[in-house]
Amino acid sequence: MRTNHIGEATVSAIGLGGMPFSLEDRPTDEQGIATVHAALEAGITLIDTADAYSQGGDDTGHNERLIAQALKSWSGDPSEVLVATKGGHVRPGDGSWQVDGRPEYLRDACEASLGRLGVEAIGLYQFHRPDPDVPYAESIGMMKQLQDEGKVRMVGISNATVTQIDEARSIVDIVSVQNQFSPSYRSSEGELQRCAGLGIAFLPWSPLGGISSASKLGSRYDVFQEVADAHGVSPQQVCLAWMLGLASVVIPIPGSSRPETIRDSAAAADLDLSEDERARLSAA
Ligand SMILES: NC(=O)c1ccc[n+]([C@@H]2O[C@H](COP(=O)([O-])OP(=O)(O)OC[C@H]3O[C@@H](n4cnc5c(N)ncnc54)[C@H](OP(=O)(O)O)[C@@H]3O)[C@@H](O)[C@H]2O)c1
Repeated sequence: MRTNHIGEATVSAIGLGGMPFSLEDRPTDEQGIATVHAALEAGITLIDTADAYSQGGDDTGHNERLIAQALKSWSGDPSEVLVATKGGHVRPGDGSWQVDGRPEYLRDACEASLGRLGVEAIGLYQFHRPDPDVPYAESIGMMKQLQDEGKVRMVGISNATVTQIDEARSIVDIVSVQNQFSPSYRSSEGELQRCAGLGIAFLPWSPLGGISSASKLGSRYDVFQEVADAHGVSPQQVCLAWMLGLASVVIPIPGSSRPETIRDSAAAADLDLSEDERARLSAA
């Protein structure tokens, strides 16, 4: 697997998004753990999670617990894997997603994540989403404090605008930005380019558009299927390979709930597309 960098850490060019293991229509934990193991065997060394990836309420932290369990039961070296978790989203248990960016809440959330992951310091801690009721600088100020206290090795942000990226960087060293980006959702192009200019990692979330089958990309995106057919691979692989070529800082984190899909996605790191193919995919 080709590698890339997030701050001081070397990670695989493609990561694993853990969210599908924990929401309402999740697979069994056994299947989730088998999928994490398949990712690790395929060379993936970046796993994205969050305390909120759960069904909410008492289930909070389900994803972090599952990933910790998968790493513990893996035959390889878990110290080579960067687990990137997040705080700032809350699921009360009624199916909704709320935000809480208050510093005192973020401190409690970080400490709970440390316990669930069973580590002394979180490798990458990301502020999940700005809270309109809390000044951004206050939330980011707590991220810095957590880093100063040694609870967090590196700090990232998510769902941030260019202005928020700049504001966050004025407070703490930001190593990554995680925003929604896929063929059908490209409105974070500005943030992607800002990250490229700054040399910090850009982690597209829902890189496959939150879809489970290529056809759902829509007929406008038939070109992904055409290029896939030409290479004898899946359109999801083409999508991820195209994304990797947009800028060297791009590290997609495709979600998966089955070993087959994450193995297929991991292989995108080795898929070479021609300039002509890239141009056609970008124009789709
Ligand atoms: N920061 C944020 O606010 C935020 C928000 C949403 C998500 N995220 C992160 O981003 C990650 C990715 O987003 P996502 O999970 O919503 O959506 P996604 O990566 O766009 O799509 C995931 C779905 O695509 C299918 N898939 C993956 N690879 C495939 C392949 N090679 N061939 C065919 N199907 C494939 C999977 O199906 P199977 O389930 O059948 O394997 C999975 O259900 C999440 O897991 C989470 O870590 C972050």
